[in-house]
Amino acid sequence: MGNPFDLTGRNAIVTGAGQGIGRVIANTLAAAGANIAIAELNAENGETVAEEIRSKGCDAISIVTDVTQSSQVDAMTQQAAEHFGHIDILVNNAGVVHHQAAEDVADDDWLRVINVNLNGVYWCCRSVGKHMLERGAGSIVSIASMSGTISNTPQPQASYNASKAAVIHLTKSLAGEWAERGVRVNCVSPGYIGTPMALDAIKRVPEWNATWMAMTPMKRLGTPEEVANAVWYLASDASSFCTGTDLIMDGGYTSW
Ligand SMILES: NC(=O)c1ccc[n+]([C@@H]2O[C@H](COP(=O)([O-])OP(=O)(O)OC[C@H]3O[C@@H](n4cnc5c(N)ncnc54)[C@H](O)[C@@H]3O)[C@@H](O)[C@H]2O)c1
Repeated sequence: MGNPFDLTGRNAIVTGAGQGIGRVIANTLAAAGANIAIAELNAENGETVAEEIRSKGCDAISIVTDVTQSSQVDAMTQQAAEHFGHIDILVNNAGVVHHQAAEDVADDDWLRVINVNLNGVYWCCRSVGKHMLERGAGSIVSIASMSGTISNTPQPQASYNASKAAVIHLTKSLAGEWAERGVRVNCVSPGYIGTPMALDAIKRVPEWNATWMAMTPMKRLGTPEEVANAVWYLASDASSFCTGTDLIMDGGYTSW
């Protein structure tokens, strides 16, 4: 039997891979042998990451995509499938957060978070999932969050927490529907990870970090590499009996 983590010849789409966790996921899957389509809102960052991967000898393309627009998502699927021949792996990583007291959140701010974090994940699963079901094979990994299991403190972020809880349940729903047709659907739920999303927040309000560390048994932020390795496992044949799984990795945060 070969190495079940080997992704040689597999083709992956990673959304929001222009920076942060997505960028490291794209590089990690490429290092395991996969070809990568970067589906990212920020064209410049998307191209930079695609070039980074090509320079290591893998095939990579940047497809400028706003995951909130289902027509753009369908075009993303088509372009990636045409370029690579087919798609084996989808990583739904694009996400945004909004910090504000729940009673004051404006409609547009609520909808922006739900549109990227939940609707965007669904549009991508629907579009790429249909392609995978036609082939009878595929692995989808969404980046949810421990915020889908607990509600964070002290920062107020009800829209984010609700969106991530929905991603976890969407994952279980699709896993059940598609298991017999060869498509696995799982999610990874990180705790606090040192990326622009978390670092910008604690730069603005340093006290938040003190609370986060006090509540995290391991007393540190996680790294994008730690998240990427979990995604690699779920994307690969190493996790062939996993579907509907929510892999929480949070330095122990949800264990207390
Ligand atoms: N950083 C953390 O502490 C943490 C913890 C748990 C979960 N997460 C999740 O991990 C994922 C990645 O987070 P990150 O920390 O790397 O964030 P980040 O802000 O550093 O990067 C997010 C990326 O998504 C892209 N993006 C945003 N909206 C998009 C859209 N509509 N279409 C396409 N791309 C879009 C951005 O351009 C950016 O490149 C998110 O889903 C986030 O919710 C992060």
